[in-house]
Amino acid sequence: MPGPKKPESSRSRKSRAARADRHDLYQRAVQDVVSEVDFVEGEFKRIRGRRAALIREDFCGTANTSCEWVRRGPSHRAIGVDLDQPTLDWGIEHNLSKLRPAQRERVTLLNRNVLSPGREGSGVDAVLAMNFSYWIFKTRPLMRRYFESVRTSLASDGLFFMDFYGGPDSVKIMRERRPCRGFTYVWDQSRYDALTGDYTCHIHFAFADGSRMRNAFTYEWRLWSLVEIRELLAEAGFGRSTVYLEGDDGKGGGDGKFVPASVGENCLAWLAYIVAEP
Ligand SMILES: C[S@@+](CC[C@H](N)C(=O)[O-])C[C@H]1O[C@@H](n2cnc3c(N)ncnc32)[C@H](O)[C@@H]1O
Repeated sequence: MPGPKKPESSRSRKSRAARADRHDLYQRAVQDVVSEVDFVEGEFKRIRGRRAALIREDFCGTANTSCEWVRRGPSHRAIGVDLDQPTLDWGIEHNLSKLRPAQRERVTLLNRNVLSPGREGSGVDAVLAMNFSYWIFKTRPLMRRYFESVRTSLASDGLFFMDFYGGPDSVKIMRERRPCRGFTYVWDQSRYDALTGDYTCHIHFAFADGSRMRNAFTYEWRLWSLVEIRELLAEAGFGRSTVYLEGDDGKGGGDGKFVPASVGENCLAWLAYIVAEP
């Protein structure tokens, strides 16, 4: 026997996944640009004794961090570099549009490969490579070329900031779910090749109505070790690199506070920032 007829409006209504915007979900679930910029501003001032003015956000995607940077003051300028124009366009429409006109003028977006940022991407106080995006470079020569290019782009007292993820859990094939407001974020470590280090991860989003946005983002990376990255930084001319490990919240998670470390506890999963000085 057929059930009660659904009203037209609910039958034709799209699922939550179909109505959602993947960049919006990413920014809400993955990024914390306020804490990231706090870290960059604070450590630059502490190490160099002056305030950074011009940053370059490599792999900037929607330029969320660049927008947060220019909100911090009238001398703050940002250059975002990404080679995907639709993603940059999304950032212009949804992030840059929320800035005041004077702030917007202080953001420059370059549709370029970070390996060749050009003259406009040079002379910067800090280069940022966040959310492990630089793992896209899978060989030592390519990673070294990127680091050399960053070094030559920096002002004489410039600093290079990047993040890092490690620990035995990083090589595990597993999915981690985290509830966010209105959806669930799913981090999917789907393939790790123990011989090559090739590492495929996806981000999915799940919704209360049972709908899913599968493979909203896919990353084809090499899972690097922290030691290799620091060696490559040294080979590329960075005289010093400091690792800031995240503290423990006492409940098996991170506390969001990153402090310089010389010894690394072998936790199942850990996050770090690396700050490299030419
Ligand atoms: C994981 S997203 C990074 C988003 C953002 N930076 C963050 O911290 O969350 C990676 C971005 O890197 C860009 N990308 C990948 N390879 C690149 C390259 N060689 N040069 C410039 N952008 C690149 C992609 O288009 C994508 O927008």
